[in-house]
Amino acid sequence: MTTSKTVASSHTLISQLMLPSHSNFSGKIHGGYLLSLLDQIAFACASKYSGYYCVTASVDTVNFLAPIEVGELVTLKASVNYVGRSSMIVGIRVEAENIQTGTVKHCNSSYFTMVAKDPNGHPVSVPTLVLSSPDEIRRFYKGIKQLESKKNRETFEETLDYNSPEMRSFVSKHNTILALDSK
Ligand SMILES: CC(C)(COP(=O)(O)OP(=O)(O)OC[C@H]1O[C@@H](n2cnc3c(N)ncnc32)[C@H](O)[C@@H]1OP(=O)(O)O)[C@@H](O)C(=O)NCCC(=O)NCCS
Repeated sequence: MTTSKTVASSHTLISQLMLPSHSNFSGKIHGGYLLSLLDQIAFACASKYSGYYCVTASVDTVNFLAPIEVGELVTLKASVNYVGRSSMIVGIRVEAENIQTGTVKHCNSSYFTMVAKDPNGHPVSVPTLVLSSPDEIRRFYKGIKQLESKKNRETFEETLDYNSPEMRSFVSKHNTILALDSK
C-alpha cells in the first residue's frame, strides 16, 4: 500500500446528460438524482485514493445553488480534501452546461466523509495526503475546522434540556406554537 498520495491523484470526474427520466414534477432535475451522482463520485474518488472499498459515513454539506434543466450536461469534479486515519473528506463541485450556448453554471458544492474498509469490513488506514498548493492547504484546513465544529456542536447539543423553560421560551420566539402540557 502506498504510504502517501497527492490530491491530484484523487481527482475524479463524471459527466452526464440530464434526461427527462431524471426530472421532477416541475421539469427540473430531481435533487435525489443529483445526490445519487454525488454519492457515486464520492465513492469513486475515495476508493481510487485509498485503494480500498469505501463507505459513506456522513454528508456534511450539500448546497443546491441553482436548478438543473433537462438537456444540460452535468459535470461533477471530486477530490480528497482531507484525510484522517481511515476517513477522507471528498469535496465535490457540480456544474451544468447548456450544450447549445456553452453557458456553464455552478449548481452544487458538497462535502462527503468516506471511510476506507479492509476486506473484513474494518476501517483501515489511508495514505497520507501530500498538499502541493495553498488551495490544497486551505481545503485541508477547512476539513479540520469542519470536523471540529461538528464535534463542538454535538458536545453542546448533549448538554441541552429540551424541556427547560429557557428552551421553550427560545423556540416560542420562532414560527411555532408550543402544544405541550405545562408540567
Ligand atoms: C462509518 C463507519 C465505517 C464507522 O465505523 P466505526 O466502526 O464506528 O469506526 P471508527 O469509530 O473507528 O471510525 C472510523 C472513522 O470513521 C469516522 N467516522 C465515524 N462515524 C462518522 C460520521 N458519522 N461522520 C464522519 N466520520 C465518521 C471516524 O472519525 C473515524 O475516522 P478516522 O479513522 O479518520 O479517525 C460505520 O459506522 C459504517 O460502516 N457505517 C455505515 C456506512 C454505510 O453503510 N454507508 C452507506 C449508507 S446507505
